[in-house]
Amino acid sequence: MKKFMNTAFSALVAVSVATGAFAAGGEGHIEDVDFSFETPFGKFDQHQLQRGLIIYKDVCAACHGLKFVAFRTLGDEGGPHLTADQVKAFAAEHDVFDPEIDDFRTAKPSDKFPTSSESHIPDLSLMAKARAGFHGPYGLGINQITKGMGGAEYIASILTGYTGKEKEQAGQVFYENTAFPGGWIAMAPPLADQELEFADGHDGTDPHHLAEDVAAFLMWTAEPKMMARQKLGFVSVGMLLLLSVLLYLTNKSLWRKVKYK
Ligand code: HEC
Repeated sequence: MKKFMNTAFSALVAVSVATGAFAAGGEGHIEDVDFSFETPFGKFDQHQLQRGLIIYKDVCAACHGLKFVAFRTLGDEGGPHLTADQVKAFAAEHDVFDPEIDDFRTAKPSDKFPTSSESHIPDLSLMAKARAGFHGPYGLGINQITKGMGGAEYIASILTGYTGKEKEQAGQVFYENTAFPGGWIAMAPPLADQELEFADGHDGTDPHHLAEDVAAFLMWTAEPKMMARQKLGFVSVGMLLLLSVLLYLTNKSLWRKVKYK
């Protein structure tokens, strides 16, 4: 029994170490947010994704890129679900470099979002999957079972985690941030004093709302097919349950003759 417990424990530790290595972050203070996509039957909130897209474009895109995301996917069902005309118009607001003509040209829906403006600024396409908001306790990952991986929460917490303190080191300004591992981040608070306008009438000035909306949008860019994956999971488990019942009944009927001879 003791041996079994030891093996089970090592397996658990191995699993949590593996997930920990796969997603960094989470040493700072991360707020849990009830995102619409977190429950087993949850969905991305289309309006929230549309607001997040506007926040991304008006604020984050000045520095960050989304180089793995094609404009065309903004029209996908389950995502921001823009109309074909809106996707076209949105793409046309960007210039992309085309190696074929060796020059910049207006973007088409089949093009991808531009890359980050500078090489030290991370691309945000997969950021929500690359970071985990929750760990522990003691490396067991139990928080991740109850609260989720927390990639979107990590992003929202970074955006609202500024304390207002700054310091300069080797000519670079760092901002104190309670969510960022190490406590000091090189990104100036991007959502302070924003006044955005949304078609759905939502308040575009509250940094907490803005942070959640753009975090939800970045969860979608990182995992656009999350809903389809969850649905497939439920269908598969349902089929397996059905198969188990059928196998049980088959087994009973096959052995009936032997048992009650
Ligand atoms: C003025 C430029 C600038 C703007 C605007 C900006 N960022 Fe950043 N961002 C940075 C820089 C620089 C870093 C790298 C910080 C570091 O490593 O200390 C960064 C890092 C990040 C990270 C990564 C943190 C990590 O764990 O490595 C996230 C997430 C992020 N930004 C999200 C956003 C979002 C969302 C927006 C829009 C609301 C935004 N940023 C706007 C410059 C910017």
